[in-house]
Amino acid sequence: MRFLSLLSAGVLAPIAGLAAPASYNEVLYKRENLCNLKEPPVLCQPNASVTVEETALRAYKFYRAFVVDGDPRTMFSLIDSVYKQNSPGYESGPNAIWPLFCGGRKIGTEQNTAWCFDASTNMSYARYSVTDRWRWVDGCVHEHWDRNERIPAQDQCYKLPTTGGTP
Ligand SMILES: *[C@@H]1O[C@H](CO)[C@@H](O)[C@H](O)[C@H]1NC(C)=O
Ligand SMILES: *[C@@H]1O[C@H](CO)[C@@H](O)[C@H](O)[C@H]1NC(C)=O
Repeated sequence: MRFLSLLSAGVLAPIAGLAAPASYNEVLYKRENLCNLKEPPVLCQPNASVTVEETALRAYKFYRAFVVDGDPRTMFSLIDSVYKQNSPGYESGPNAIWPLFCGGRKIGTEQNTAWCFDASTNMSYARYSVTDRWRWVDGCVHEHWDRNERIPAQDQCYKLPTTGGTP
């Protein structure tokens, strides 16, 4: 009875987050708009000890941040300070693309897009309306292509260890 009366008095409800079920979704899916920042808050620090398996996991994380989640903080934390562009007319460097991604825009779901990390080339791929390709060096995204790219066949793509769910 004492518990109930506290609840109805509105004392416990805010603590337990019971007042607004919608806030649960906001916490889970909240994305950051970081366009108030002139440049990415964190970049990837190249580290020669990062293993192939770790790179594959990072490549998946990068795809999630770029395509599915629209999470600019995570996305740029995986890009190094070089980020060499291979398309004529595109400036290299993470700051050049920051304005395109700072707003946290989602561009697809796991169901309608695809990704791949090819350990034999250290290239990762994301297919959405087009296909992008990136080269990973020392655990970071280092170089980018987006002209007539083709995602490799599934058997060339690194299989992430699964723990019963999405890695
Ligand atoms: C470099 O990567 C290795 C392997 O993941 C890790 O153990 C180490 O702490 C990293 N070094 C730095 C400075 O982050
Ligand atoms: C890919 O990266 C690993 C380190 O993660 C390196 O040992 C290997 O030589 C690289 N392979 C190619 C083809 O660049």
